[in-house]
Amino acid sequence: MKKRIAVFASGTGSNTINIINYFSEHPSIEVSCVLSNNKSAPVLKSASDLGIISYYFDKKMIEDENGKVSEILDEIQPDIIVLAGFLWKFPSHLIQKHTNIINIHPALLPKYGGKGMYGANVHRAVLDNKEKESGITIHRVNPIYDDGTIIFQERLQITPEDTIESLQQKIHALEHEHFPKVIEQLLEENTH
Ligand code: GAR
Repeated sequence: MKKRIAVFASGTGSNTINIINYFSEHPSIEVSCVLSNNKSAPVLKSASDLGIISYYFDKKMIEDENGKVSEILDEIQPDIIVLAGFLWKFPSHLIQKHTNIINIHPALLPKYGGKGMYGANVHRAVLDNKEKESGITIHRVNPIYDDGTIIFQERLQITPEDTIESLQQKIHALEHEHFPKVIEQLLEENTH
């Protein structure tokens, strides 16, 4: 039986789609489902178009210990839960139950993390502070926003010409390059 990934995403889902494609022909790992808190998130349609079961849920469905999200995860029994542009805080009851949960953040944590720090807001803050570098962080999820143990970081240089859009593009490229590989590595380490 393949190792199973459950992905949570709130928006466009370029990381989610990249992860689905990366594992689509993988011998021992598969994306089992995509879950989104945003009914009109493009990621829901893109994932279903790729044949991945996709679910929408609201606040109650994720926060309730016996809610729909808990039920779905109980059934799938994912080996890893991946937050890929998921903008709500992940509830404690799910963190207690599922120990292997990771998140990707578009900056070099511990800087530029916390509530409200997502997507373009992060890049704007980095540029406003005239940082010389930024990057990506993949970390374990605990009950505090962007606070769990860091698993992986990759840096990039910021140039004077960079804008929010150009930085976002560069960050996305780094995320797409590394996120699936880090997931794969974590799941393969678990086998031994
Ligand atoms: C990604 O850059 C991810 O790092 C960021 O949202 C973007 C989602 O893009 N996550 C956060 O900011 C979490 N605090 P995508 O929908 O194209 O994958």
